[in-house]
Amino acid sequence: MVAKKTNDVKEKMLDTLLLYGPIDIIQLCARINSTPDLIIGALQSILFHKDLIMTRSEVNNRITTWVAHKRTQRKKLLKIADLADWTDKKTFLNLKKLRKQLTDGNFGDIEILPDRKQAAVKKAAGKNFSTANKLKAKSVPAPMIVYKMLPEQVVPQPYIGNDLTVAEEQIDEIFGLDTAISNHDSPFKLDKFQRVAINAVLAGNLVLVSAPTGTGKTLIAEKLAEQLLENNLRMIYTSPLKALSNQKYRDFKEMFGPDRVGLVTGDVSINGSALLLVMTTEIFRNKCFGEPEELAGVGYVVFDEIHYLDDLARGTAWEESIIFAPQQVKILGLSATVPNIAELAGWIASVRKTQVIVVEEKIRIVPLEMRWLTAEGKAVDMEEAEKAIEDYIVAKENLKEQRFAQEDRPDYQKKYDWRRGLHR
Ligand SMILES: Nc1ncnc2c1ncn2[C@@H]1O[C@H](COP(=O)(O)OP(=O)(O)OP(=O)(O)O)[C@@H](O)[C@H]1O
Ligand SMILES: [Mg+2]
Repeated sequence: MVAKKTNDVKEKMLDTLLLYGPIDIIQLCARINSTPDLIIGALQSILFHKDLIMTRSEVNNRITTWVAHKRTQRKKLLKIADLADWTDKKTFLNLKKLRKQLTDGNFGDIEILPDRKQAAVKKAAGKNFSTANKLKAKSVPAPMIVYKMLPEQVVPQPYIGNDLTVAEEQIDEIFGLDTAISNHDSPFKLDKFQRVAINAVLAGNLVLVSAPTGTGKTLIAEKLAEQLLENNLRMIYTSPLKALSNQKYRDFKEMFGPDRVGLVTGDVSINGSALLLVMTTEIFRNKCFGEPEELAGVGYVVFDEIHYLDDLARGTAWEESIIFAPQQVKILGLSATVPNIAELAGWIASVRKTQVIVVEEKIRIVPLEMRWLTAEGKAVDMEEAEKAIEDYIVAKENLKEQRFAQEDRPDYQKKYDWRRGLHR
């Protein structure tokens, strides 16, 4: 049975992805016994999840165009992908072809990009940035982008910089920032985007940082906390998960001492009047509505994983927090890479009626690799996977031949053909 409901597919897909990490879409089809368009439907409903590339509207647009213009091609692709009988040689070859198409990034009009490196390059190319050709040639991701979103501003004027010294000078010029932070006493050298973001936020701006997973966004919030606490100002750090809040609470306690740090989640409330409070976004939203007086003296609220704004079920907590936070509370938003960060910043600028500085780092420090999973659960590259499948087919065929040779029932071949027909 092919899973038909988007919700089923979504659940199974998430389980599979959580278990195995990012895998090829055809592999996903086979694993959860579904079809590419159901999977894309499911992807749509969880888009903005960290490791996905396109926005919902982008996918919607693409799917609409695709369905309208490529019906025949779609049917063909679906028919092929629907066949889960990998032991059939013809199907296998078709799948191989389809898979090549998919991993080349072409799926009708839909582009499935294996990682953000390519996405960044394609995006840069699509927008005709002057660096696009250079990027393509070198096949490196687009560099950091910094720009200022004003309320009601439609098109941002991005500053794109690669060279560190020039970039900092120009950025200082653009935003009037202090570069003192460059000589920072961190155990490691701060990355450029961290320096820019820290500068921007210490200068009192509303800042939105968009950077891939594991690039070190938290550090920006830590430096902000350091400055605010020094000046006896309060900061609230919100995260989408209790587990993340607990961990952040422990980290901050170690950094700033237990007296100055508190934790409020649905389960616990520790030191609720501390200068630095860690809470879930829902709790912060509730405070904005119910107890705004408790937010007196708060200089900044940090929204970690602010891309949750797009979450169907929980996004309103972020949305309402941004709209209803008391006017004196400034915002530092930390986000996984999302393609329409400018749109998000524009919205925040309009709601908060002030400029928002966007720092966008596109280079993925922790690279994504495409791996295939064998039936034994071993992660292998595509070449090894193809060999494993071919070996498997040969072994299967051999086994069948041996069994035919042993069979003395004359109708066996007929029955076998009939059963195989069922899978087509
Ligand atoms: N400039 C840097 N150089 C080397 N390591 C760094 C740097 N900045 C931060 N780190 C380290 O990188 C690790 C990941 O950082 P962090 O958790 O802040 O990532 P993140 O961007 O918030 O990722 P996620 O999207 O998963 O939340 C941390 O252990 C941090 O100490
Ligand atoms: Mg983080």
